[in-house]
Amino acid sequence: MPVHWTLRSAGRHARNPLAIYAGLALAGMALIILTVAPLASKVVQRWSQRDVELRSRLVFNSIRDQVATGLASSNGANLVDFFDRIAEDERLLALGFCSEAGQLLHATKRWPSGVDCASVARTKNDTLATAFDAGRRLLVSAFPMSAGPIRGHFIILHDLRFVDERAGKARLYAATALVGGMVGIGLLAAAIMLGALRGWSQVVRSALADAKHGIEPTTRRVDLLPITSEMRLLLRDFRTERREGDGLQVQWSPQTLHLLLEERLPDTEVIAVSNREPYIHNRRNGCIALQIPASGLVAALEPVMRACGGKWIAHGSGSADRETVDARDHIRVPPGDPAYTLRRVWLSEEEQDGYYYGFANEGLWPLCHIAFVRPTFRLEDWQQYVAINQRFADAVVQEANRDDPIVLVHDYHFALLPAMVRAHLPNATILTFWHIPWPNSETFSICPWREEIMHGLLGSTILGFHTQFHCNNFLEATDRFVESRIDREQASVTVAGRETMIRPYPISIEWPPSALAGQPPVAQCREAVRHRFGLPAAARIAVGIERFDYTKGILDRMRAIDDLLRRRPSWKGRLVFIQAAAPTRGKLAAYSALQNEAERLADDINARHGSASYTPIVLVIRHHEPDEVFELFRAADVCVVSSLHDGMNLVAKEFVASRDDEQGVLILSTFAGAARELSEALMVNPYDTFAMGEALEQALLMPTAEQRERLRLMRDLVRVRNVYRWAGQMLLDAARLRSQQRIVASMVAETKSLGQGPEPRRLRLGA
Ligand code: F6P
Repeated sequence: MPVHWTLRSAGRHARNPLAIYAGLALAGMALIILTVAPLASKVVQRWSQRDVELRSRLVFNSIRDQVATGLASSNGANLVDFFDRIAEDERLLALGFCSEAGQLLHATKRWPSGVDCASVARTKNDTLATAFDAGRRLLVSAFPMSAGPIRGHFIILHDLRFVDERAGKARLYAATALVGGMVGIGLLAAAIMLGALRGWSQVVRSALADAKHGIEPTTRRVDLLPITSEMRLLLRDFRTERREGDGLQVQWSPQTLHLLLEERLPDTEVIAVSNREPYIHNRRNGCIALQIPASGLVAALEPVMRACGGKWIAHGSGSADRETVDARDHIRVPPGDPAYTLRRVWLSEEEQDGYYYGFANEGLWPLCHIAFVRPTFRLEDWQQYVAINQRFADAVVQEANRDDPIVLVHDYHFALLPAMVRAHLPNATILTFWHIPWPNSETFSICPWREEIMHGLLGSTILGFHTQFHCNNFLEATDRFVESRIDREQASVTVAGRETMIRPYPISIEWPPSALAGQPPVAQCREAVRHRFGLPAAARIAVGIERFDYTKGILDRMRAIDDLLRRRPSWKGRLVFIQAAAPTRGKLAAYSALQNEAERLADDINARHGSASYTPIVLVIRHHEPDEVFELFRAADVCVVSSLHDGMNLVAKEFVASRDDEQGVLILSTFAGAARELSEALMVNPYDTFAMGEALEQALLMPTAEQRERLRLMRDLVRVRNVYRWAGQMLLDAARLRSQQRIVASMVAETKSLGQGPEPRRLRLGA
């Protein structure tokens, strides 16, 4: 986590300089002591010696006349006595008179034997010099003088030992004073720093406590800190991460989802609504066969419902569906291990034509996808759409046992249903998830019933899209077409006093996928697929697996294969592309045209590049059960997801999840929502045939180590951001809003009981 990294690295960097500073301070102190102490000693020594020299002169000047008189008289004994008296001063060692011939004529008793007149400098001027005698330093002062015929030098010897002692003491005192002073200053600085640190830590701790409760640290307090800006950034990052990662720290699984419901949403009733049902019963050859539809919605919602329980209301589209439900049109599913109730709603063919094929799939589907298929809007389709939305809304109200269920509304088939349910169950928490992209407002504006659709969706408590981009498009459309208040910071829209949160919830798959359980090893899957399609032993396998939909870029990827085989013929015989395509919405011209075109193109490519023993494009147009899909994924060297536009695309995530051997390459369109998360896939622009061919070759030649590295990162992401997290985050947000609503309700009740009766709609808590 970046915050932790920053704090840790900051600590690491801070420790070393501290040790360095302490070392430098000690070295500096030692240097100062070593320089200053000898200097002090030298100064003291010089001063003391000069003092002695002055005293010598003073002594000489004051006794010069008596000495001259003494020398002139013949009585030397008197002179010696006189010298001895003067030399009683403890520092004055001896006095004497040296003749010009270098003879010591008169001297005190303590005249050192090692000092003789020959060794004493005797010049015409006064001389003051140091000499050594018996290990002690002496100051020898020689003053020329004469008395009648007698000429010579008057000598004064001072013992300088006291000077050296005094200099030594000065050195010691200076060093002691310096050490003491520095220690004192250090202690004072440490005390000041400790005080400051304590103050800082209090401010930091209170700022962190504020952050924990989501309160912005006050400028006044945090600005006291020299580290204020870094702190602010850290706190902001921390809060953002906490917000974004809400639920990320949790290892999301069916159990955690279950726990979440128990702890945060106790006694909650969950009702899901979608057009497509999770289990279809068909009558085939006199028997009832179970089919799991090829649907991203089903792949995502089914495991969630297994974990949550509750009811799932959907169109009963199977030929044997009516035979398998009870009197209330209920059936417990999954078959064999029931965990929730499927409530089937019946539609006539005419209703399906208008609501499903017409308005949903010829109007809204091309409107929301940029695939250059013109949307068609017919009034009759719209009327069916309104009627069927109402039928499903009534079913929700009928199935609800409480007045405040959590209603999970899925997809573009039910844009009007949230407001319809809200009208009957005002306390319901309605979470609507739009599984396809939301177009920009210019595109959306061509829908003749755009306002009705927006109002219908804004009956939701929370409206979710796969990406922030689609949320932004929706907010832009609201701004343009609905009289509302938009709070961009909270990403919410308020219409007639009721607020809807607009949030991104990237959809995902269950982890581990149940279709993976029981799959044989990859080598075995590959062998089975080779055998089934009669592929050459050395052929590399690329796959594409989805509904036969014009948004999926099926023709575009076939053209890329064609282009690669044309430019690099060495791949002929060595590359086979298997396209498994489930027929879908076959009644619609755009879909049948696509299928015809795909078959024609495959034949054409095979005729040009194939041979009797080699078919480059294998087109398998039929429904594949999840086990078969996973076998194909595991057999593949490359999986191609080349959607021209896609909300998320769960095929990409399923391929990643299927490869527990960490081998295989995913080629992914940048126009699929999944590209925002699976960034280690080879990204392609499906409109760029040449580049897609190049990407195919790059995938086929990718070293196994690189495949492993890329897949590991993507597998980690899908494992953590699984479908339980997708549902968990929506339910966590729902739980938060429900608590807030409860608080608002009790505030309203309280103020009403006080007779103030406020406008309930105006009371609102922050998100
Ligand atoms: O992608 C939108 C979507 O509704 C998916 O959620 C689902 O996978 C797919 O379309 C199914 O389409 P249909 O139910 O029309 O076959």
